[in-house]
Amino acid sequence: MLQHNIRNRLFHSNLEMLPQMNEIYELELAFAESQALNDTDLVERGAYFASVNGVATNHFRLCCGEVLHLPDGTDQKRRQFFERNQFRTGYATHGLFPYRGKFHPQMVKGILNTMGLRPGDLVLDPMMGSGTTLVEAAIMGIDAVGFDVSPFCQFMTSTKLDSLTVSMEWSEGAVTESALLFRFFKELSAGKVQIHDCEHHYYPTETPQGFPSEWFEQKVWNMLLLAYFDSVGFAERSSKQTPEFQFHGILERYVAVTRKFQNRMAALGLTMGKATAYQGDARSIPLPDSSVDGILFSPPYSFAVDYVENDASHLRLLGANLDDLRARMIGLRGISFRQKYDSYVTDVQKVLTECDRVLRSGRFCAIVIGTNRNQLSKALGITPDKVDGLDDLMIRLANSIGMNLVHRFERRIVGLANTMREEDILLFLKQN
Ligand SMILES: C[S@@+](CC[C@H](N)C(=O)[O-])C[C@H]1O[C@@H](n2cnc3c(N)ncnc32)[C@H](O)[C@@H]1O
Repeated sequence: MLQHNIRNRLFHSNLEMLPQMNEIYELELAFAESQALNDTDLVERGAYFASVNGVATNHFRLCCGEVLHLPDGTDQKRRQFFERNQFRTGYATHGLFPYRGKFHPQMVKGILNTMGLRPGDLVLDPMMGSGTTLVEAAIMGIDAVGFDVSPFCQFMTSTKLDSLTVSMEWSEGAVTESALLFRFFKELSAGKVQIHDCEHHYYPTETPQGFPSEWFEQKVWNMLLLAYFDSVGFAERSSKQTPEFQFHGILERYVAVTRKFQNRMAALGLTMGKATAYQGDARSIPLPDSSVDGILFSPPYSFAVDYVENDASHLRLLGANLDDLRARMIGLRGISFRQKYDSYVTDVQKVLTECDRVLRSGRFCAIVIGTNRNQLSKALGITPDKVDGLDDLMIRLANSIGMNLVHRFERRIVGLANTMREEDILLFLKQN
């Protein structure tokens, strides 16, 4: 009843909200996008509405229908989690690979709208991780460019982008022959077959006998390899099923979600934005001054997630030098906690300075950051009520280079395995 009244006050009666909206920050973003977009744009690009003047929105049409093709044996808790998040996360190729700490794509859509980005604009994610910003921007017709210091992130994001448009003729054969593919990938992992990095496309040096040539088409091969990485990671986390069994189910799901997305996109007749993912360091962004129309990113959850350790087996297979990577990974540089924290502050300052340089005046930079107060309090020996959270740190650093905070959305973190419980969406404006 109460929520009903709030909604009636915030939104015109021609706007029907999506189900499953129960967070304050979602209402705030919905309100912000309803102010920024006209009715036609809300139908095309809105994140939080099911219909406008009785016309179903594209977001609703992309997400509705079968939730996610979850493998047989998926437990009830996990299944319900996906069902609850159908409009937040369960669409397009966002679900390919469960990267720790990735954005909710619906939130990304809401933030891009709030920042006033339109098709043809260019958005930057300097620490793209699994590429949620790039994939979502592309779906909305917005161009995007992203960087991540990790070659695995470059690979994962490119694969998720490519699968938006990959042709799917190969898919039935590959799912049927998943055991054969899995054995081959295991040999790759064991070093029995070498892989070589050809401009960030990771092909085996020897072509296995009996494999159809279409599996080696770059977009297809990368998708198969990502499904393999996913199955290995899954097996590392849970011993209930073998990686081989997982691989079959994961590949089936990748195929199902990709097909669903491509069919929906074709039915909607939408034009996608151009998006490119590079391996690169956010402290030195290879883009010209004043060249992007918006920035959205989430810095590493500092000391909470060790991305090198987490992805070690995938990184090794891709030929990465883990020590080199660790030395460039923000949040991991240093030995003691104090050293790590000090390096983190210096590094984030550099990233913000680069963001300010490449952003056009009058445009927004959005940073999503876990406040991390409890961990910082223990590690720095300051009581929780006195310690600066990472949100405070970010605001202080941004202010020092003239980026002004214009809005803060507070967000609880919900999820199966999250250790952090609250984060903020900080919206900074680069002054004219
Ligand atoms: C919180 S994650 C980003 C997750 C992303 N928003 C997503 O949706 O998947 C932070 C990322 O920062 C990356 N990173 C760490 N140090 C970096 C650096 N020096 N330059 C660029 N990226 C870096 C990490 O590899 C990690 O993928």
